Amino acid sequence: MEKYAGTPQQPKILNKDAIPLDAKIPIPSGTYNSLKEIGSHCNACRRCPLGESRTHAVVGRGNRHAPIIIIGEAPGKCEDETGKPFVGPAGKLLERMLLKAGILTRGELANAYLCNAIKCRPPANRTPTAMEIAACKGYLLEQIRLVDPKIVVLVGATAVRGLLGDKRGITQLRGVWRNWEGRLVMPILHPSYLLRNPESLKGSARWLTQRDLKKVKKKLNELA
Ligand code: URA
Repeated sequence: MEKYAGTPQQPKILNKDAIPLDAKIPIPSGTYNSLKEIGSHCNACRRCPLGESRTHAVVGRGNRHAPIIIIGEAPGKCEDETGKPFVGPAGKLLERMLLKAGILTRGELANAYLCNAIKCRPPANRTPTAMEIAACKGYLLEQIRLVDPKIVVLVGATAVRGLLGDKRGITQLRGVWRNWEGRLVMPILHPSYLLRNPESLKGSARWLTQRDLKKVKKKLNELA
């Protein structure tokens, strides 16, 4: 049965309302006209079981036309309660490090749009399953297409696995520029890991992450 009409490059969905209900229905590129539309679909989404337990879908915040998109793993408790990504302790640490690197200026998210690989909180903050990541991936790809950033920062192994499909450990991947669909990608360590490892001496996890963020800022200046 034909589900879509239109060209193979830019298929048009006949029944967009069916998308939130069934992970077997793909979300082709070009499905959404705005981030707001993605937000309302995510809040109605039942593509995976996490839709049953969420308070809010956590879609994104920041500049909708930012040169950098920062993609984390999944919402935690504070994010689920507020509907905003990176507002809990790990998010606050990341924000401080982004400020220190000069990517953000105080109180402003002009350079960045923040989101996650999956939009709903997994129970007890467990790692999202491959099925949950796959069910949500269409939303993430649409967010990237609409924001159209020059640089993608992948925060932690789940974000790397979710976008690039690379299953290697984050300690091996962090700090090295990658290319994905014509965009520059920088994987970094997850701030939850940095909270558990507060050491900031030269060579420590925090020091390395701060250095990786400096690389991102330098690249942003070069591209400006
Ligand atoms: N908060 C988020 O929104 N995502 C993470 O990956 C961590 C904290």
